[in-house]
Amino acid sequence: MEWCVSMPKIELHAHLNGSIRDSTLLELAKGLGDKGLIDFSQVEHVILKNDRSLAEVFKLFDVIHILTTDHATVTRITKEVVEDFASENVVYVELRTTPKKNESKGMSKHSYIEAVLEGLRAVSSVDVDFIPHSEELKNLSNPLLSTTNDKCNENTRKKIFVRLLLSIDRRETTEAAMETVMLALEMGHFGVAGIDLSGNPAVGEWVTYLPALKFAREQGLCVTLHCGEVPNSREIHDMLDFLPERIGHACFFEEDHWRKLKSSKIPVELCLTSNIRTLSVPSIDAHHFVDLYNAKHPVVLCTDDSGVFSTSVSNEYKIVRSSFGLGRKEMLELSKNAVEYIFADNTVIRCYDAYELTARDATYCYYVSRQ
Ligand code: IMP
Ligand code: ZN
Repeated sequence: MEWCVSMPKIELHAHLNGSIRDSTLLELAKGLGDKGLIDFSQVEHVILKNDRSLAEVFKLFDVIHILTTDHATVTRITKEVVEDFASENVVYVELRTTPKKNESKGMSKHSYIEAVLEGLRAVSSVDVDFIPHSEELKNLSNPLLSTTNDKCNENTRKKIFVRLLLSIDRRETTEAAMETVMLALEMGHFGVAGIDLSGNPAVGEWVTYLPALKFAREQGLCVTLHCGEVPNSREIHDMLDFLPERIGHACFFEEDHWRKLKSSKIPVELCLTSNIRTLSVPSIDAHHFVDLYNAKHPVVLCTDDSGVFSTSVSNEYKIVRSSFGLGRKEMLELSKNAVEYIFADNTVIRCYDAYELTARDATYCYYVSRQ
């Protein structure tokens, strides 16, 4: 485990509200309990329960969302989540979250994302890179490159690249989905790099989100879809035909879905613990990681909800090592390959006056420097 923690990693499938520390959730619940707004002991039981079906996971999210409704809390959890990923040597994370409206708290989808950005600014344990092509970059001393040569160098201070994906919840209407895409476009210069479709897979129809997803694509946003979390053959075909930049899970795939996926080379975000905990796959031995890995299909190991499923990126690598016998070299390669699938845009960023790199190359360079 120590080695898995020390190796640099890339996290591409992490939901903000699913990645909150238990201690923070309990503290927030206690605060609301003391005010008589919730029954603390009941909520404590729900938070600390270990095994949950997929349906129960979505009930837990309803509870979590009651605890994280104000701007200050959204800022706090964002800061903590990024610090937690950085502390286990994640060098690049795409954090996804569903922009929320809450009139009683004066919260709009826009102000929700502002609160998330505030959380990124508040991170203190590590440098955070989240503005891909801001003028401010010119004036920042970037630890990525030394002033004397253009090779990747070891930093004295750790850095984490953060990009945001805005999630469309499957409960939303076409208009609400479109609003999220417009917001992502507006926030592009603050590191919003793409759109995710998530939420309870038993709810909603593909055609509802399609117009917003098509629009996102036309405007140059990358798209990732939760795909095949439940058996729904028609929807899986429709999603693969859309050719998203990535998909998550791919649990309930049948032969013709695998064929389509493999010929399309769409990278798959695999979340082993999440799939086992929700019984989306019967056991780790039966997990489709093995088949995709052996077929050299692009895959990336992710947590999904490190808080809800009590896992970490390092733990996901440890599982791959212990269950499928991958060696250190293979694990490093698996991790490094993920740089190819990131959504950070390819706009050139200025590191020093003399050096220009794309965000992707900067991530790659930094990853290698940490190996
Ligand atoms: P948030 O978007 O930051 O509020 O993170 C929690 C949300 O992510 C949940 O309400 C779901 O919409 C979504 N989510 C988290 N885990 C899963 C999953 O396993 N499948 C589908 N959606 C999920
Ligand atoms: Zn997910």
